[in-house]
Formats: sequence, C-alpha cells, structure tokens
Amino acid sequence: MERHTTAEAARGWQQSSILFGCDYNPEQWDRSVWQSDVALMTEAGVGLVAINIFGWASIEPQQGQFDFDSLDAIIALLHESGIRINLGTGTASTPPWLSTKHPEILPVAADGTTRFPGGRQAHCPSSPIFRERALALVERVAERYGSHPAVALWHVSNEIGCHNALCYCDVSAEAFRRWLETRYENIDALNAAWGTTFWSQRYGDWAEILPPRLTLSSINPGQKLDFSRFSSDELLDYYRSEADVVRAASHIPVTTNFMVTAHIRNMDYWQWASDVDVVANDHYLDNRLALPQSELSFAADLTRGLAGGDPWILMESSTSAVSWQPHNIAKQPGELVLNSLTQVARGADGICFFQWRASRQGAEKFHSALLPHAGTDSKIWRDTLELGRVLRSIAEVAETRVEADVAMIFSWQSWWAAEGDSQPSSAVRYLEQVHAAYEALRRNGVTVDMVPPGADLSGYALVLVPCLYLLTDAEAGVISNYTAGGGTAVITFFSGLVDNDDRLRVDPTGRIRPGAFVDLLGAWTEEFFPLRPDQRVILDSGATGKIWTELVRTVTAVPLDSFRDGPVAGRPAVTSNSFGAGRAIYIATDLAVDDYAALLGTVLADAGLQPNSLPSGVELVVRSNESYRYTFVINHSADEVTIAAADGIELTTGQAVVGAVTVPGGSARVVRQGAPDAASKHDNHERAAQ
Ligand code: GAL
Repeated sequence: MERHTTAEAARGWQQSSILFGCDYNPEQWDRSVWQSDVALMTEAGVGLVAINIFGWASIEPQQGQFDFDSLDAIIALLHESGIRINLGTGTASTPPWLSTKHPEILPVAADGTTRFPGGRQAHCPSSPIFRERALALVERVAERYGSHPAVALWHVSNEIGCHNALCYCDVSAEAFRRWLETRYENIDALNAAWGTTFWSQRYGDWAEILPPRLTLSSINPGQKLDFSRFSSDELLDYYRSEADVVRAASHIPVTTNFMVTAHIRNMDYWQWASDVDVVANDHYLDNRLALPQSELSFAADLTRGLAGGDPWILMESSTSAVSWQPHNIAKQPGELVLNSLTQVARGADGICFFQWRASRQGAEKFHSALLPHAGTDSKIWRDTLELGRVLRSIAEVAETRVEADVAMIFSWQSWWAAEGDSQPSSAVRYLEQVHAAYEALRRNGVTVDMVPPGADLSGYALVLVPCLYLLTDAEAGVISNYTAGGGTAVITFFSGLVDNDDRLRVDPTGRIRPGAFVDLLGAWTEEFFPLRPDQRVILDSGATGKIWTELVRTVTAVPLDSFRDGPVAGRPAVTSNSFGAGRAIYIATDLAVDDYAALLGTVLADAGLQPNSLPSGVELVVRSNESYRYTFVINHSADEVTIAAADGIELTTGQAVVGAVTVPGGSARVVRQGAPDAASKHDNHERAAQ
C-alpha cells in the first residue's frame, strides 16, 4: 500500500524487532516519579513511549501562551535512556479556555442537545475555530520536535472520532451541504440518489438539507447513509490537515490510532489507511461479547487488511481490566502475553498499552496499566516483564508476513446501510454476522485476510461474503469473476440487495430477478421471512437457523440443505451453484456456529483446503519470509495441548521442536521452521498443522 513517507522513513519506527510500548502521561505525576518510571521502562524493555496525547492544556495553558518546559524535560529524559518517542500532536481534547471562549465549537447530538466539556473530545469535527486553534498548536509542536532524534513516530490527535464522529450542529449542517454538492453537483442528482419522491421529501435547494437530526418517523436512508460517509470523510480531512502540518516540519512517519473494535463503526478505515505511514490500532478485549478472543483475532486480521498485509502496530491495549465496560474483567496471569502474541501472530510488529503507570485520579483511575497501583510486586508487573522477555525472544518475526488462503469481504459502508431504520429485521446486525462467519472459519483453523469490496481476490482458495447488503455492480463483478475463474465464493443472506445509493436491485417488470448475485448464485429470493427473536428453525441436516429465513428460488443452483420447519419449510436453506470454473454457495439463514463451522469445513475441503483439526480453543497462524516460517500456536484453552509441527526451534523457550510442540493452557508458542519451499500456500497451510 502506498503511503506518503518513503518506505525507509516509514520503517524508522520498527528497527527489526517487535516493539514494546505504552502511553505515558507524566503530567499526572511529580517529576520525582519520572526517573523511576524511566528506569522501570528500561527494565521491562519498553522501547516506544507515546507522550503529549492529551497535552494541550499543559503546553498551551492560555491561548497563544506556550510552555514546553515539562515536555522538553520528559523528552530529554526518555532520550537519555534510549527510549524512543511516539509524539502526540496534543490535540486529542480541547482545553476549557477554548470552549469557554468559543462555545460554538461544542458538538451537538441528533436531538439538538449540546455535549459539554468535562469529558474529552468535546468539539465539532467541522468547527473552523477548533481546527484553527488545533493546527496552531500542531505547528508549534512539529517545529519544536520535528527533527528530534528520539522521535520515532508522530501520533496525530487520538482515536479521532471516538466520541464526536457524528455532530449535528449548524456548522456540521453547512459542511454536510458542501460535501453533498461536491458529490452530486446538482440537486436533482441528490434527489434521485435519496429517492426523495417518497414522503414528499424533494429538495429544491441545497440550503433545505439538514443532517439526519431526530425525526418523528424513520429517516430517509440515503440521507443517513450519506451523513455517515460525510462524517468519516470530515474526520479524515481533519487528520490530513494535522498530518500536513506535521509533514511540513518533519520527515518522521505519521500515524493515528484507529479503533477497529466491536463498538466503534463511524470511520470507513478503508478510506483512511493509505494516509498513515504505518497502520496503528487500539484494541481492548471486549468482555461484553460472547467470544472476546475471537473478536480480538478478527480485529487483528482486519487491521492487517487495512495495512495491506504490511506490519502494523497495536497502539493501545490493556494489561488487565479496563474501566469503561459494565463489568471490567481482570486478566488471568499470562493472559496479557497470550493476547499480545495473538496480535503479533496476525501481523502486529508493535505491542503498546494504555498506559504506563495507572492513574490516581480522573475518569480512568481504575484502568489497568503496565505498572499497576500495586507496584512491582504484582501479577501485572510480572506479566509486563514476561511480555518484554517474550517479545525480545521473537524479535526476528518482525517484518514477516501472515499467510492466508481465505479472504473475507468487509465494508463499513455496507454496515452503515444494513443497519438503517425500517429494515426487515433489527436482529440482523452486520458485525454479528461478520463475527459469526469469522468464528466459523476460525474453528476450521483457517487464517483470513480481510479485504474491502472490489479488492483483488485472485490467489485465494475461498472468499466469504457475509451479509454484504450494499455494494456496487463493479464490486459484485469482482466476486463473480473470481468465482468464474475457479474460486469458491460463500455468500450469506442479506447480501447484494442494494446499490451504492441504498436502492434495491429490483426491476419494475419483475422479469429480472433482484440482487447482485442472481447469476452467480443461480438462485434468487422471492420474499424474506425473518424469525421472531427466540424462534429457531431446523434444517434437513439437523443444523439450526435463527434470525432469518427466506423463500429461495433456485434457477441453476442445487440445494445442499433445506428448511425442515419454520415459515419456509421445504425450501432451500443452503444452495450451491457451479459458475464458470468455480462454485458459489448461498446460506439463507443465520446458522448456529457449530453448524456454520461444519458447513464451511466441507466447503473448504472441496476448495482444496484441508481444514486443520486443532483442539478447541487453539489458534494456529503462520508468518513467514523467504527464509523462515514462524508458526504461532495460541492455546486459549485451560488444558495443555500437543500439536504436530515440523521440526524447528521454539523461540520463547529456546527448545528444539521435533515433530510436535507442547503448549500449556493459556500460553502461546512460536516455532521457527526452515525455509518454505516453492510449494503453494495451500500446501504450506496443511503442513503447518501436521
Ligand atoms: C482509549 C484512549 C485512551 C484511554 C483508553 C482506555 O480509548 O485512547 O486514552 O482512554 O481508551 O481504555
């Protein structure tokens, strides 16, 4: 993926090792604490420290009055200790003087109510005043530290759009109109795209258009979808404005921390990825989910996808509990290392944490850190030291690439559209469907590359397309061409229904069957029959379906399984269609995960991929370069497992591996094996499990 800084400069952060890093907020501590902090960082092997993330109020206590003394001092101290710096531009949260002087920068919710200071990110992303003041600060910071030898990376703002992505104020409304004018050029084109003939919504002038503020009934879906697109673009534009200021003063690579997680969905990171010199992601284990570990792996794979397969940085994670979930579950001994190695296995070349030292005050005082309140005689500190040791032991893995035979198509825009108002079933949640598909592959021991709609699919033995409601004809064509060329596509319900304007693909004559995949699937859907919340249906195979059924009409497809009961009893539930040299499978219900995994196991085998028979709770992922393969065996289960492995060296213990590697419960092992031969990736995949 082409990035703005030269490849050499962009790799400056990397230094052929797996980075160990953290956020550090020294302004929360007396200077006497800094010395011991830096000594302990050195002991733990922390090599990259993010500072000045929330620095604005400290370095600019009043408008135009700058005080860099503390920042100079901490930068000097870190530099003397050989610790490199991930330097925040400082704009993550506005100081109170700014919003007091300019309350018009405050964000406004869809119901018209203002969001006030006292938390963080209390500004409208489109506010020209915010931008002007923020960029003035960035300019000072970039000029002062832009060639400092300790600075390895620029950290623009922080988690851009985390809280304030959607602002409905009058300034945002005006910016939205400008964005729409650029997109549609004339108002009739907008009317056509939004289908405003419905409910008397025709616009005669741009000035009549508002953001999708709270309405009495369902809102126009096109208006809502475009507002999501606008909001992501607006935040990206802001990121770019900061990055431009930084780049004018510095050749050090620039990034910002993405939030590829289960609870943030407002940024279309496919649009953002090429603007950062290295992709960085914040990820916290989400214990609100049924399968937090599976989501962790998914997010890591998606982050690697954003990086185009290049190494990326886990910019934030937690050593133990967070403080923002309803029940903040602490990690067991070793879990910190296990989670971190899961991220490395899936392409991370940097593992960083929020934060170095646990806070005594403020909204996150119960959030874990590398150095906990309990000090160094603690489970967390022992795990911190162990992680530092383990990351050093696997340093040679840096810059290798993850092997994957299967691709899954992921789309933020489709997510936004699929979850609009007035859909057939509010139980169809895009991310849940993606997670289910991912888990079904994971249970087959398959490593997945996440790709955007329209990406080149050649080289993959199988492509999974879960619940891809919105895509363009050209993007649908890529999937059809891939299949015609000999690939296997698995497409699940609620896919291919609408075009880029959220317009249903139906033909008024009824002669052309609806949907983007009718020819590919050799089947089409006459009517949807969503299920009631607790309703289950049984298929002929004995598999269970939930949430969704539909009346599938086959043309050339053959049914592989049918509904035995429920609203469409006797009709196909899973179909298969030969298409060119390939095959397309359609799944017309939300299969229980065991059944989903079993079905995909068969399809994978038919596609020439021998699914790994790994014990439950074990992940196997391979990173490689032209010289070596590194097999990560990650054991999330409580029991010790022994996995057949080609001979090599286990890097975390230094022990020889002869035919098999034993992995204690809750641990991970990394086996270096000799050079891969010229055989296909598929053979490699099989070998890894043998
Ligand atoms: C992130 C944020 C950090 C900290 C962390 C706590 O959202 O960037 O500053 O708040 O979460 O988990």
